Amino acid sequence: MKIKLSVQVTLAALATIAAAALPVVSAQAAEVEVLHYWTSGGEAKSVAELKKMMEAKGITWKDFAVAGGGGENAMTALKARVIAGSAPTAAQIKGPSIQEWGKEGVLANIDAAATEGKWEANLPKVVSNVMKYQGHYVAAPVNVHRVNWLWINPEVLAKAGAKAPTNFTEFFDAADKIKKAGMIAVAHGGQPWQDATVFESVALGVGGADFYKKAIVQLDPASLTGPTMIKTFETLAKIKTYIDKDAAGRDWNLATAMIINGKAGMQFMGDWAKGEFTAAGKQPGKDYLCMPAPGTDKAFTFNIDSMTMFKVKSAEEQKSQLVLAGAIMSPEFQEVFNLNKGSIPARAGVSRAKFDSCAIKSMDDMDATSKNGGLVPSFAHGMAIDSAKAGAFQDVIAKFMNSSMTPQAAVLALAKAAKAK
Ligand code: BGC
Repeated sequence: MKIKLSVQVTLAALATIAAAALPVVSAQAAEVEVLHYWTSGGEAKSVAELKKMMEAKGITWKDFAVAGGGGENAMTALKARVIAGSAPTAAQIKGPSIQEWGKEGVLANIDAAATEGKWEANLPKVVSNVMKYQGHYVAAPVNVHRVNWLWINPEVLAKAGAKAPTNFTEFFDAADKIKKAGMIAVAHGGQPWQDATVFESVALGVGGADFYKKAIVQLDPASLTGPTMIKTFETLAKIKTYIDKDAAGRDWNLATAMIINGKAGMQFMGDWAKGEFTAAGKQPGKDYLCMPAPGTDKAFTFNIDSMTMFKVKSAEEQKSQLVLAGAIMSPEFQEVFNLNKGSIPARAGVSRAKFDSCAIKSMDDMDATSKNGGLVPSFAHGMAIDSAKAGAFQDVIAKFMNSSMTPQAAVLALAKAAKAK
């Protein structure tokens, strides 16, 4: 997920090379080109709704999809296009990275859409703050994903004589039973961003929201190297022993498929996983369970997807861009997109009627945790710290997952990574 942007100078220096390598094709009038990495079954269904909506408004949708969970490949493709002077109309960029792109001077001001759609009144501050650069809207939020979930196949649990865990003692008890019954206890894909996703839920479960904030958001050296972080890595090391030997490189949706088809019992993953269950026609509470990751029921790790808007050349393109921003924030889009995506609407004023029990729990928990301090930004999904530090953290965690590195060595490496620039 290293998405560190180069400074202007480097951009300029690279522009010549990239321009020669890439055809310069920018969006035409009444057309939007949208870069995203929503390519799994559930994700593709979700983004298709936006395409449909734009086409109904007479605007052509030029799809710029770059596969790869977590978006690392997409960010590489985006940088090449921006350097070549042919940025897309919008790109799936979120969190502090929006500020990094803002500093490059390449983002479009979409205040006109925000005023027209009354965004200030309809967005919680925790969302609207992220969408602005120097006080102006440059991005439109599509959703709020909760990351600290555990996805469970109840049939696997029943076969193993295990019960759904609420804390780590119960989690390891269930994992032991599933393993003994000859099934895979933990479905996982060995990719750095997935490792980081598990790590942050474990840190939250082991240490609680205050510890998470101190260590992972404020980067307090004592919290990064102290006993709670050591226990986090010890817990992670134990989880490793329940992951199957074929996990290396596996995509997240294939790990979710292992839960869907009963090969594995439990998966730590954000609620884009629910999009896969939904696309497979599965019902929550019956075919699968969504539980807060062990020990995290009083907390909520948020991950807000947004479409960040790039400066476009003609007045016609600007018009289409504002229509896109308006469509994204419409209650109709926020409902249908999030029903498919597994997330919840980013804005107020969307009916809850069609949402399932996992989404309702997410809505209620977000509300409660925003009042009691349990609402924390996801580091693994680019919400908590700048991309250089997030990338360095991710490297340490991936190394830990793929070697015999000790928890003691890992916490020291993490404290060093917190200084990455
Ligand atoms: C994004 C989700 C996406 C997931 C898997 C997350 O970082 O926020 O929208 O579904 O990665 O690619």
